[in-house]
Order: sequence, then C-alpha cells, then structure tokens
Amino acid sequence: MASLDIPSASTAQLDALKELKSSFTLTTDRLHRIVEGFVHSMNEGLEKDGKNLAMIPSYVKTRPTGDEKGTYLALDLGGTNLRVCEVSLKGDSQFDIVQQKFTIPQAIKHSNARTFFDWIADCVSVFLTDHDKEPSPTGLDIPLGFTFSFAVAQSSINRGTLIMWNKGFTVEGVVGRDVVLLLQDALKRKHLRVSVAALVNDTVGALMTSAYQHPSSLMGVIFGTGTNAAYFEKAGRIPKWIQSADGARDAADVDEMVINMEWGGFDNDKDVLPLTFFDNGVDRETQNPGKQIFEKMISGLYLGEVTRKVLLHLVDRRLLFNGRSSTELNQPYSFDTAYMSTIVADETPDLADTQYTLESVLLLPPTTPADRAMVKAVCYMLGLRAARLSAAALASVLTVRKDVLSASKTTIGIDGSMYEFYPSFERFLMEAMAEILGEKLAQNIHTTLSKDGSGVGAAIVAMVADKQREMFGH
Ligand code: GLC
Repeated sequence: MASLDIPSASTAQLDALKELKSSFTLTTDRLHRIVEGFVHSMNEGLEKDGKNLAMIPSYVKTRPTGDEKGTYLALDLGGTNLRVCEVSLKGDSQFDIVQQKFTIPQAIKHSNARTFFDWIADCVSVFLTDHDKEPSPTGLDIPLGFTFSFAVAQSSINRGTLIMWNKGFTVEGVVGRDVVLLLQDALKRKHLRVSVAALVNDTVGALMTSAYQHPSSLMGVIFGTGTNAAYFEKAGRIPKWIQSADGARDAADVDEMVINMEWGGFDNDKDVLPLTFFDNGVDRETQNPGKQIFEKMISGLYLGEVTRKVLLHLVDRRLLFNGRSSTELNQPYSFDTAYMSTIVADETPDLADTQYTLESVLLLPPTTPADRAMVKAVCYMLGLRAARLSAAALASVLTVRKDVLSASKTTIGIDGSMYEFYPSFERFLMEAMAEILGEKLAQNIHTTLSKDGSGVGAAIVAMVADKQREMFGH
C-alpha cells in the first residue's frame, strides 16, 4: 500500500500530495451521489435514444443453459488485437477454444472501411488455412459471431450501425454503416464461406460466457482498454424496445433482454463526476473531447495519461525529479497504464522496480527515494479512484436489479487488464460496493474472471441466434 508518510519528502512535496489526495478521493457520500445520477441516466436511456447512457438493446432475449453444443467461429475486435477463434461448445458448461491473435497495425486503425474489413477478412483466411478449417464444398457456410467492441446501434442480433469510434480508432467510412454487412462483403471478396450470424459487444460476450458457466450471472463487465457493461434487464422496463417493431412483435414472449449500456459515456455533460483539471486536460486532447468521460477516468487507455499529467504538474512545480522531465515522459501516452500496476505492486526496499520504470524506460535523470515514493502514491490514488468509480457503476446496476441481488447470489463476469492486473482492483471494488449497498447485500455479489469472454461469448450468441429463430420464427 502506498502511503503519504514519506520520511525523505519535503513539506512542500507532502503538501502537494495531500492536495492531490483530496481531489482524487471519493467519499461514500460522493459515491452515493454518483449512483443516484447513474440510475437516473440508466432509466432515461431505456426510455429513449440519444441520452447520456446509450442503453442499447442487444436482441439477446434468452439465457444459455450451459447444455448447448456446437462449433462456431468467433472474431473479437477489441482495442489492441484481433483474435480469430474456433469455439466448440461441449455442453456441461464446458468449451474448447483454438485462437490466433493478430496485432492491429496503427495504419489499419486509421485506414478506410474497405482496407480495414479486408484486413480482418485476411486474418480470418489465415486462420482457416492454418487450422485447416475450410467447409466442405457441399456443406453449409461456417457461422461466425463477431465481437465488435464499440458503440453500435443494433437493429437485430446480427445487424448494427457504428455510432462512433473510440479507443484510438478513426477508420473512415464506417460510422453510420452496418458493420456486419461490411464484414460479410469483405469475406465474400475473399471467397470465404463464412456467414456472420451474430454481432456482439464484448460486454455481452463476457455476460454470455459467465452465464454459460454460472446460471446466477446478471452482468458482464470490461475493465480494460475501455470500460463498459451489459446486464439482463426486464423486458417490460425497456420502453424504447417495446415501442420498436421487434418489441411490438416479441414483447409478450420475452422476459429479459441483455442491454449493452455503453457506460463509458456516463456523464458526458460533466454534471456528476468529480473531474479534475488533469481529467479535463486528457479529455480535451483526445479524438473525442466531451465524449466517453467516465471511460477516461477509469480505463487502461487513459489512466496512464492522467497519471502522466499529474507527474508533469509536480515536475513543473519542482516538486518531483528536481524539476526535470525527459523527452519520453513529455510524450503524450508514454506513461503506460501497465507501469502503474508495476509501481503500485513494488514492495522492494528502495522501490527498485519503480526506479527501473522511471530511469530505464522513461529515461528520467537519477531519481531519489522520495521521488519514487511520490510516484507510487500518485499511481495508487488514481487506481483507487478508478476502482471506486467502477464500483459505483456496478452498484447502480445492482440497485436497478435489487430484485435479483436481494434474492440470491448474483454473479458478475468481468474481463480486462485493469481487473486482471491492477493490484487490489478487485478488493477496492468489493469494499466500495459494500459501502454503497451495505454489507448484507454485498455478500450476495460474486465476481468471476470471464477470461476469453469476447470470443466464447460471440460463439454463444451465434448459437442463441439459432435458438431465437426457432423460438420467435424470425
Ligand atoms: C468502449 C466501447 C464499448 C466497449 C468498451 C470495452 O467503451 O464503446 O462498446 O464495450 O470500450 O471494450
């Protein structure tokens, strides 16, 4: 644990840290206010589109039982990599996955629709060849679940148009177009006998994977490059879906539907969240200022950058590194969020791991023990704030679904680097949820790592698509 008790630090340094601590601390009261705002935004988003929280119906209207069997291809386009997978659902909540990972080149992230989807189709082709998976000439096309981890306005289980790019992508000509059709066309151009059966957000994938293994699953959450969640909402509480053509047809037969919340966009009006000078600075310099405000305070893509801004602020006041920076540290986004995990976990006597990151990776001039302890304290504060904000978001959904939480054990499937690697993230989450919801209710919360949720979840939704076609006849 990083403390503000740094014997070798000067009074000015300690005062600066205290000041930072007070602007990054979230009291229980503050968390309650955030939950209030969050629940309000959730209800608004379920009512109509265009609100702070998009609350997008996923058209997933049934739960997997764990007994399902079948083999599907899955494509997982996340923030950093594209994964092509073959998932075999084996029943009994078991699955096998064979996968190949492709790093998305920067140039592809900033290309145009045709280049981008052709690149994806090429990756699918490489996978099929490498794993000898061509369909037989007379057989059916291979069904594929497409996990596309961006805000998409879905119109059915395998149709949806991109609302906006985020997480550093700016591919031209995709916003406003159906990403399934773009992918299907590219697959056709390569003569690949693959048919896109489902379009899935990664959070929906995490939820489905968790539900395949734990029937008590209510939510799927990503704390990674970006952050977002999906949950089972009562169909009767989704007016905007009930009023749609699909809702008018199916509402009487549907109990629940998975909602992709797109919670990264919470409080884009900056009314509720305690944004600091540093958060506003990061937001202003992104590709989408004024958007994804919540995500920018929490997720892996931005947290290191907020930290870098705080460190430079201390440098400029001559309270850190004797007032000196380095060309590397001056570079936007050079302070990777992964460094924060290493630094917070550093228990060596002289903070040697922190020293290595600062001097050998970021090429700063020799640092003092006080410098290193200060950097550790800053990383700790920002990680804690991210976890407590995340807990407020989780607690909001659990408040809306208190009927489920108060009745039984409730499982949340979580994936993403912040959750997996940031020291104590899980403990901070649980502690803050207990503060908000009370110890008794919090005891019903069960979190589980939904590893590979995006790939497996895409296959499960492709399977659900078949099941729904049988149930609803469309
Ligand atoms: C961004 C995307 C969202 C995704 C999340 C996590 O917030 O808009 O769709 O689920 O990142 O990857």
